[in-house]
Amino acid sequence: MPLNIVVGGFFGDEGKGKIASYLALVDRPSIAVRTGSVNAGHTVIYNGRVYRLRLIPSFFVNPSTKLFIAAGALIRLDILFREVEETGSRGRIFIDFNAGVIEDRHIEMERSDPFLSKDVGSTLQGVGYAMADRVLRRLRLAKDFDVLRDMLIDVVEEVNKAVDMGETVYIEGVQGTFLSLYHGTYPYVTSRDTTASAFLSEVGIGPKKVDHVIVVFKSYVTRVGGGPLENELSFEEAEKLGLVEVATVTGRRRRVAQFNFNLARRAVILNSATQIAITRLDALFPGDRCVREWDKLSIDARKWLLDVEDRLRVPITIISTGEDVMCTVDRRRDYGVV
Ligand code: IMP
Repeated sequence: MPLNIVVGGFFGDEGKGKIASYLALVDRPSIAVRTGSVNAGHTVIYNGRVYRLRLIPSFFVNPSTKLFIAAGALIRLDILFREVEETGSRGRIFIDFNAGVIEDRHIEMERSDPFLSKDVGSTLQGVGYAMADRVLRRLRLAKDFDVLRDMLIDVVEEVNKAVDMGETVYIEGVQGTFLSLYHGTYPYVTSRDTTASAFLSEVGIGPKKVDHVIVVFKSYVTRVGGGPLENELSFEEAEKLGLVEVATVTGRRRRVAQFNFNLARRAVILNSATQIAITRLDALFPGDRCVREWDKLSIDARKWLLDVEDRLRVPITIISTGEDVMCTVDRRRDYGVV
């Protein structure tokens, strides 16, 4: 399974960090590449510690995995250095020469933009304004910063070489399909495309090299900020169902709706999903919390999963039943994909 991509199927916050960290431990990839930027927070709970990562790949939990940040990514120096220390990844974290760098002025401009802050509900991390500077060809890149000198690498060369040698490589996508600048609920979207093809382009690898596209859906839909959310539940209803969540980067309460098959179907198409991962199964079926085998899941949970699989026509290979990395059902062997 040389090249794999993990992509969010709804509006972000599907639990990609959990899925990625599980895959890190089980598949032991030689390389994991993070795309996107600091507006996306991936949560990893491992060995009793909680990591809220905004730049370092969630795959850091495997100490033998080399961690890369893609050319299309936008980094912030303070966040990068903080996370390098927090994860102890110095010496195995590398950044593409061409990754962009968000500077203070981008954050200030974003904070004083009323449309982004009030209507779109931006995370206000300066990502959109840095992206605009990149389009206008005046953004400074990682290679322009002396403090990054020891971490710079040609990610394109390294990743393509590893894939050609048959090594396992993961691309960790960010946010979710419907936050895409092109395919999402414009203008209530983020400042980049967030589908699998975009992540390949950010990393610098061609479409013919992909083996698996794992689209991650949560067992219900959440979104933060503005924009449409079909069949949105009131906060009271969400509370009653135990579906209350707080956003990783902003601390805002997430809006909630039930699993949306139309969106899921479209996400399958947009990403050419080959596998589906479902997270937070335990939110719908509390009795299945931290179950690790398919046969031990309740009949109701299995029925729900089989219905999703049937309607989306893509195998559900990974099922998360709790926030800890090991609370996971892995059906990839049953489907012959490992
Ligand atoms: P921005 O990309 O920070 O400007 O935010 C634009 C919209 O995308 C806002 O509604 C944000 O709440 C949302 N958004 C951006 N990144 C994420 C993410 O990682 N998870 C969930 N929502 C996000």
